[in-house]
Amino acid sequence: MSGAETMRIETLNRDTLPGAVETIRSLPEFFYERDLEHAERNYKEFVEGRLKDAVFLTVLENRDQTRGQVLGVLGAIRRCDTDGVYFLASFAVRRGLRGQGLGRQLIEAVESELKTRGARLVFAETTPSPYCAETRAFYEAVGYTCMAQVTDFWQDGDPLMLYGKRLKQPQ
Ligand SMILES: CC(C)(COP(=O)(O)OP(=O)(O)OC[C@H]1O[C@@H](n2cnc3c(N)ncnc32)[C@H](O)[C@@H]1OP(=O)(O)O)[C@@H](O)C(=O)NCCC(=O)NCCS
Repeated sequence: MSGAETMRIETLNRDTLPGAVETIRSLPEFFYERDLEHAERNYKEFVEGRLKDAVFLTVLENRDQTRGQVLGVLGAIRRCDTDGVYFLASFAVRRGLRGQGLGRQLIEAVESELKTRGARLVFAETTPSPYCAETRAFYEAVGYTCMAQVTDFWQDGDPLMLYGKRLKQPQ
């Protein structure tokens, strides 16, 4: 991967759905099986138009205008009982391509779309566990701060670390 001309960002669709599933399933050390099943359900429901007020974007290889390989995927879904609060969902960049700016491009594109929808706050859920150190460094590099921790959230011994970012300042 060398340079922005070799990739493009597109809304997740029926053609890219299998590549998105394959991308997240290629990183089993970051996700429990139930996360992977949840991600697949989200991707599918989004593509079928059944997930309301959500954005799912893919970053694609740009070699072939119609069928580029999926290199990364990220979604955001509005919490329907809030005023403009979104949660990031099912974020993955293929292993060999990490650290090359794809994650930043995806999150900036998602945030840009969320701003057009009037989003106030966006949250990213992760864990303080050592295996997610790089994920936390990523969120901090793109302007998120840790807003809360909840012990034993994902399962006993695996806490939730909630990162957040304001997209719209209070009036
Ligand atoms: C988290 C993830 C999506 C980031 O994607 P990425 O393409 O590797 O990130 P980028 O290359 O765009 O990095 C963006 C910034 O984060 C920082 N960053 C990324 N990895 C880092 C690391 N290991 N240590 C320190 N900083 C890091 C970079 O320095 C970069 O900052 P810069 O643009 O100012 O140089 C990717 O690593 C991934 O798929 N991880 C596994 C799955 C996962 O953790 N998903 C999220 C579940 S909550």
